[in-house]
Amino acid sequence: MIPEKAELPLQVDLERIRRQAWTAPPAPTLDEATRQALRARIKRLLEERNAVLVAHYYVDEELQSLADETGGCVSDSLEMARFGHAHPAETIVVAGVRFMGETAKILNPEKRVLMPTLQAECSLDLSCPADAFSAFCDQHPDRTVVVYANTSAEVKARADWVVTSSIAVKVVEHLHARGEKILWAPDRYLGAYVEEVTGADMILWQGSCIVHDEFRADALRKLKAEHPEAAVLVHPESPPDVIALADVVGSTTQIIQAAKDLPNKVFIVATDRGIFYKMKEVAPDKTFIEAPTGGLAASCGSCAHCPWMAMNGLTNLAEALEQDGPEHEIHVDPEVGREARKSIKRMLDFAESLKVQATGEANVASPA
Ligand code: 13P
Ligand code: SF4
Repeated sequence: MIPEKAELPLQVDLERIRRQAWTAPPAPTLDEATRQALRARIKRLLEERNAVLVAHYYVDEELQSLADETGGCVSDSLEMARFGHAHPAETIVVAGVRFMGETAKILNPEKRVLMPTLQAECSLDLSCPADAFSAFCDQHPDRTVVVYANTSAEVKARADWVVTSSIAVKVVEHLHARGEKILWAPDRYLGAYVEEVTGADMILWQGSCIVHDEFRADALRKLKAEHPEAAVLVHPESPPDVIALADVVGSTTQIIQAAKDLPNKVFIVATDRGIFYKMKEVAPDKTFIEAPTGGLAASCGSCAHCPWMAMNGLTNLAEALEQDGPEHEIHVDPEVGREARKSIKRMLDFAESLKVQATGEANVASPA
C-alpha cells in the first residue's frame, strides 16, 4: 500500500528484506539459574567496565529491567541518543538495533559503544542504501534532506536533518514554515503521515518497517467494535489506513505516556509488543491488547515483534561486556561520523530549544 502522493525513487526490494528479517535467530530462552547467574555477571561487568546499558522499549523485558536496575535507561530512539550522550560512562552498551548503536557512536566518538549483536538490522535502514539515496538527493538539490534515525551513518551524513518519530512532525513544521521543501527517507508511511499533518511539500523514499507494515485496518476495525471503550494507540510507521483508526499517533514514548494519561481502561496498541512491559509498569490497572496483524496463519512473519530486536538477550549482552571485542563493538568512519553528527545534533538542539521531553506530547487524532 503506497501513499498516493508518493514518488517512487527506486524499487525497494521489501520482500527480500522481509525474508532476511525472519531468519534472524532470537535470543535463547534460559532456565532460571542461568538467567540469575547472567544477570549478576552483567551487573558486575557494567561496573567493572564503567559502562551504562541503554535499551529500547522493544527489547526483551529482561534487558529493560536490567537497564532500569543498573542506572541505565529504557527509552525511545531520541532519548537513547540523548541519554548516552549526556552520561559520563566510558562505555555505552546499546540493546537495540544497529542504527541505535551507530547513533551512540556518532555522538560519542571517544567512547566505546558495544552491542549484544551487530547483526540486529532494521528494515528501514536496509531499504535505504547510501549510494542510491545520495543519487536521489542529487536529483533534488532544492530540497532539505530529512532522514529518520532508522538509517545508516552514511545516510545520516548525507542528510541535513535526522529526526525520530517523536520529533518528526515538529521539525518538518519548522522547515515548512521557513518555506523549505522536503526530501524524506526512508519510511514512506511516517513520511506520508508527517506530510498530511504539516502540509509540507515532501517527496518520499519508499522504505517501510516490516513489523508495523503487518498491522491490518480491517481486523483492527473489528477489534474496535468488540472493545468500544478502548483507545487505539498507533506508531506512525504503520500503514495509513491503520493510522486513520488511531486515537493517538505517536512514538514509543508518546504511546506509553498516552496509556498513562488517557482515562480509558483498555487500549489497543499498534506497535511492537515489547512496549507492553513499560505500559504495564506505568498503568498497572489497565488492559493492553495487541492490534491485529496480517497473520491469520500465525507465522512469525506477521508477529508484532521485531525479529532484530529479539536477537538481544542476556547471553550475548554478557559476551559483549566480557569480550569487549570486535564482534560487539560499533565503529563509524570518523569523517562520516563528523558529517552525521551535524544532522543529529541539529535535531537534539532543536529538541532542546522546544523543550520536547522524551515524554512529550503525542499527536492526538480524532477518533475515526
Ligand atoms: P521510536 O523512535 O518511537 O522509539 O521508534 C523506533 C523504532 O524503530 C520503531 O520501530
Ligand atoms: Fe526497524 Fe521496524 Fe524493527 Fe523498528 S520495529 S527496528 S523500524 S524493523
